[in-house]
Amino acid sequence: MTTAGGTAIERLDGPGAREALRALAEILCDCVEGGASVSFLAPLSIERAEKFWDKVAAAVERGESALLVARDAEGIQGTVQLVLSLPENQPHRGEVAKLLVHRRARRRGIAQTLMRAAEREAVAEGRTLLTLDTASAEAERVYQRLGWQLCGIIPGYALNPDRSSCDTAVYWKRVG
Ligand SMILES: CC(C)(COP(=O)(O)OP(=O)(O)OC[C@H]1O[C@@H](n2cnc3c(N)ncnc32)[C@H](O)[C@@H]1OP(=O)(O)O)[C@@H](O)C(=O)NCCC(=O)NCCS
Repeated sequence: MTTAGGTAIERLDGPGAREALRALAEILCDCVEGGASVSFLAPLSIERAEKFWDKVAAAVERGESALLVARDAEGIQGTVQLVLSLPENQPHRGEVAKLLVHRRARRRGIAQTLMRAAEREAVAEGRTLLTLDTASAEAERVYQRLGWQLCGIIPGYALNPDRSSCDTAVYWKRVG
């Protein structure tokens, strides 16, 4: 699938994820540098970010996560994960995680395209319920446009990269 700006969405396999480690680490560092609350405090070194993606690549190899990337001629612009490895009493559920778009590629619909692709992958994996949490107002607007339902907001759930406190919104969506 290709978006208007020449962006293609791919689901990476294990070797593909390992090949993309540096580019994914650069996107994560860019998002943290931009102030996004995505599990890490600033400063985030490229080495620490690569270690994170190394664990994601291992999860992809084990079939525990689906890793999607958006790519144009310049390289990987954004990514999202679908966590499939959940407790045995939730075989119908998937968790969306780490929707990240590099600042160079924002506001072109890439996040929305990645999310649509993640939802299609979830259906292909036999999932009917998706959940996620987010500390980003921009991301919330993307989710709401795609029909995700807000459960509520947990005050002071996490820290921003500068250690200030941030709230987190919890969303769900039925798919398939
Ligand atoms: C949140 C995030 C993923 C959004 O990525 P994105 O690719 O810019 O998202 P989209 O382009 O789909 O939508 C963003 C905005 O651009 C607008 N847009 C989409 N296509 C557009 C186009 N062709 N021209 C102009 N604007 C456009 C959308 O309407 C939306 O507008 P809004 O903010 O007023 O609602 C990105 O800001 C990001 O990576 N943030 C840091 C990490 C983070 O917090 N992630 C969330 C974790 S849950």
